Amino acid sequence: MQEHRTIERMITLINNETARINETRKVNPNFIDATIDFIRTYADRCHHGKEEGILFRELSKKQPSEEHALMIKELITEHVYARKTTRDLENATKSVIEGNSEAVKDVWKYLNDLAEFYPKHIEKEDKKFFMPSMEYFTPQEQETMLQDFWNFDRKLIHQKYSKTIDEMEKTDLNKS
Ligand SMILES: [Fe+2]
Ligand SMILES: [Fe+2]
Repeated sequence: MQEHRTIERMITLINNETARINETRKVNPNFIDATIDFIRTYADRCHHGKEEGILFRELSKKQPSEEHALMIKELITEHVYARKTTRDLENATKSVIEGNSEAVKDVWKYLNDLAEFYPKHIEKEDKKFFMPSMEYFTPQEQETMLQDFWNFDRKLIHQKYSKTIDEMEKTDLNKS
């Protein structure tokens, strides 16, 4: 839930940016770059990663009620939607950079889609899912999950930057 509060701060920034695009009809590629990195690394890999890879996985083992099992499926589908919208945003931004000014409205749309999506998704998890899901776990199991979350976070930065180096080595023009 703490991570949701950080995502909400990004959503406020996105809303400010869509208002600016409305006025200027221009896209700021630096803002989009930072936004895409935040969504992919923080909201998706780090945050959705822990939800799907730890919380949902452990809850599925507890034979959740039909309502909660359905909610897990729904939340996973929503994560897929966020990934796709981020990809669409990236492609529309590339198109603007290549000179297609028509794509500015697509950039606006995908930013707006993300800004509308996250608060609803977060509200569903905060109010209808996280608290009830804790009732399936003993305090000891909750503690173990918390440790798993810390371990997940601890490894993430190393994975991210090893991958960055892998990619950079692939495109390194001076490689021997
Ligand atoms: Fe989620
Ligand atoms: Fe979440």
